[in-house]
Amino acid sequence: MQVVIMPNESAAGEFAADMVERRAKADSLRVLGIATGSSPLPLYKALARRDLPAIRATRAFALDEYVGLPPGHPESYRSVIGREVTVRLGMDPGRVEVPDGSIDGLSTAGERYERLIADAGGIDVQILGIGTTGHIGFNEPTSSLTSRTRVKTLTEQTRRDNARFFPSPDDVPRHCVTQGLGTILDAREVILIAVGSRKAAAVAAAVEGPLTSMCPASVLQMHSRATVVVDEPAARELRLRSYYTEVLRLRPTWQI
Ligand code: GLP
Repeated sequence: MQVVIMPNESAAGEFAADMVERRAKADSLRVLGIATGSSPLPLYKALARRDLPAIRATRAFALDEYVGLPPGHPESYRSVIGREVTVRLGMDPGRVEVPDGSIDGLSTAGERYERLIADAGGIDVQILGIGTTGHIGFNEPTSSLTSRTRVKTLTEQTRRDNARFFPSPDDVPRHCVTQGLGTILDAREVILIAVGSRKAAAVAAAVEGPLTSMCPASVLQMHSRATVVVDEPAARELRLRSYYTEVLRLRPTWQI
C-alpha cells in the first residue's frame, strides 16, 4: 500500500488527480469507479480544471446508493453523482451507473450491478472515501471481506454522520445497496482519499491496523495497487508518517 501525506485537502486532490490523469493519458482508464462524499471533491474539481477528453469518455460506476429515496431526491447518490461528478467532468450521463436503490428492484439490484460492471470489463481505477466507522462504499463493520454488491444496513454512526445532508436525522435511510469489499478488491487500482482529523482513527486502523472486518477499509491491505492519499490532519494517528514521506520523496517518477 502506498500512503501519501499531503499538506492540505487541495494538495491531496491534486495528487490523486495526477494519478488519474496519468492513467487516462496512458489509455489505461476505460472504467472509473466513483465515490460520493466530501473527501473526493477536491479530486473531481482538480480533474474538471484539467479538462481531459479521456475522462469525459470513461464509463463510470458509483459505489453505492441509499434504499427507498424517491427518484430525483437531491440526496440520492444518483443525484449527488450527477451534480458532483457527471456534470462537473462533462461525462455522458448514460455511461454513469449507480446501483438501483428502488424498493421494487432490491432483490436483484446487487446481481444486476455486478453484471453491469463485469460486462464493462471491470473497474480500472476505483476512487474511495472512508467513513468514520472505517467503511468504504457503505460496507459497515463486520461486512464480509469477500462480499459482492448487496443490500446493507447503515450503522447509527454513519446515519448520524450523513444526517447533515437531510432535513432531520430520521430522514437518513436505514438501508443501502453497496458494492461489496470483494467487488472493490477486483478494481485494478484503488485510490482512497481521506481529509480532516475526523478520519484520523479510521485511516490509522485501515492502513496500520489488523486486517479485520471491524475496519472494512483494512481489506485494502490485500490489494496490490492501493494508494491512500491523506492530508496532515487525517494522517495524525499514523505511526509510520515519516517513513511514508520518505518513500514518496525517494520514489522514482515512473512508479507513481
Ligand atoms: C458515505 C459514502 C462513502 C464515503 C463516506 C465519507 O457514507 N457512502 O462512500 O466515503 O460517506 O464521506 P465524507 O467524505 O463526506 O466524509
